This record gives sequence, C-alpha cells and structure tokens, in this order.
Amino acid sequence: MKKWGILTACILLAGSLLAGCGSKPSTEGSTAAGEQPASGKTIVLGTSADFPPYEFHKMVNGKDQIVGFDIEIAKEIAKDMGAQLEVKDMSFDALLGELSTGRVDFVISGLTPNEERKKQIDFSNNYYKAEQAVVVREADKDKYSTMKALEGASLGIQKGSIQEDIAKTIPGAKITGLGKISDIVLQLNSSRVDASIMEKPVAEAYIKNVKGLVIADAVPDYKEDGYAIGIKKGNTELVNQINKTLDRLKSENKIEQYVAEASDLAAQK
Ligand code: ARG
Repeated sequence: MKKWGILTACILLAGSLLAGCGSKPSTEGSTAAGEQPASGKTIVLGTSADFPPYEFHKMVNGKDQIVGFDIEIAKEIAKDMGAQLEVKDMSFDALLGELSTGRVDFVISGLTPNEERKKQIDFSNNYYKAEQAVVVREADKDKYSTMKALEGASLGIQKGSIQEDIAKTIPGAKITGLGKISDIVLQLNSSRVDASIMEKPVAEAYIKNVKGLVIADAVPDYKEDGYAIGIKKGNTELVNQINKTLDRLKSENKIEQYVAEASDLAAQK
C-alpha cells in the first residue's frame, strides 16, 4: 500500500523536477558538449542532483540530463583544466565520503562550508549565498507561521545536510532523514511528514512544479555562510585552480547569468 502510494505520487507528480523518482542510484557520466580536451584527462564531479536550480534532472532532447548552475560552474572548471567533466549523482550524505576516498575529485552541491566539514575536507572560496525556508502543504500554511509552531511536528529532512542541524534544534521535532529532496517532497505531498526545511531557491523551484505545497511564514534562524566547492583535504593545488576559475566567473558576471538561466530551466515544465 505504502509503495503503491509513492508510485501513484510519482505518476501524479511526474513533473520534471521529480524525474529521479524512486530510489534508483543513478550515476551519470556526462561531458561538457562540444569540447574534447586533447589531454584525455577526466575530472569527476560529485553532486546530489535533487536541488533545483543548483543541480537537477531535466529531460533535454528526450534525454535525462543533469543541469543547473552548479553544473555550469563545474563545466568551466573542467574547461580551465583542459579536462573532460564526468558527473556522478548520489545521495547528499555520501558526498564527503566519496571525496575523501578519491572516488570524486570535487563536490559542487550547494554545499555549506561549515566548521565541522572543514575538519574533513577543504573548500574553495564562496560562490553564492541563500536563505532557509520551511515548506508545508497549502492547507497548513497558517498553522506554521512561526518556528515555535514546528515544535513536535514531523519533518522531512535531507540526511547529512545543515537542515538536519537546524531541525535538531526544534524541540520535539520528529525527523525523517532521506537521501534525496525529491523524495522528501513526495512525503510532504502525501502527508507522511508535516514540513521540510530547505534553501529558499530550492523551495521556490519545487513549489512552482508541485501543486499543493507552499513556503510557510516560519523562517529558520540560521546564519548562512554561503556555498563553496568541496575538495579533498590537502589538495591545495586543486583549491587554487578552482578559485581561479571562480574569480574569472565572478569578474565576468557569469554566476548571476548561470543562476538566471538555471532558474528559467527549472521553472519550465
Ligand atoms: N546547503 C545545505 C548543506 O550544505 C544543503 C545542500 C543540499 N544540496 C543538495 N544538492 N541536495 O548541507
């Protein structure tokens, strides 16, 4: 019954953002179109492609692709290195481990460079900033107008995210930890959880595509440090290389452009 419910939800919500419905662990190898580097070198990006407009699945010319502004930044990093880009999609909570064991070379995944993570991996300079938001069902919007109202509620939260830390500070909250935000959205829509916390641009992208969900007035109290790119501890050379590309993109105003383009793409049905 439960399985059928999820399946039905997948069918009903088969909007583009939920393309990764179900738990198929997809590993996508993709190359920045049209560029075949002479070196034959490949650089592997780890990401959790459930995070529009940063990284998400989209049908492009009948093919499931991983797109988003983090992916555009990754393509530029690969280009500056003269390398081919391979994208590996996985659960968010697997990313840091994959980086430390060297199965991926870098992580771009809306990653917040907090102190705890800095002990485990190195970070580039920050490249973007976002606030937090609480997503609820439309009918519950008035109920969750303050963070206090979330006390004792059941929350769908991405495993290993800073949102998990935020959720743990809410007294009595029952936390359901899931690997993919797309699955959390399904749980919310089918009333298995009451609310979720996610970054505001991501919340906005989902509520545009999934009927019946809204952003509540409750705002989590969290000082956002911005996003940075994760690199294996001690690989200073790659940190410098990536910072150089980020500086170039910032000076060309490319990041704002990628954000605008990815937001348009995420809003398209
Ligand atoms: N910024 C939050 C964190 O670093 C959430 C990132 C989630 N990213 C994703 N691609 N799902 O914990």
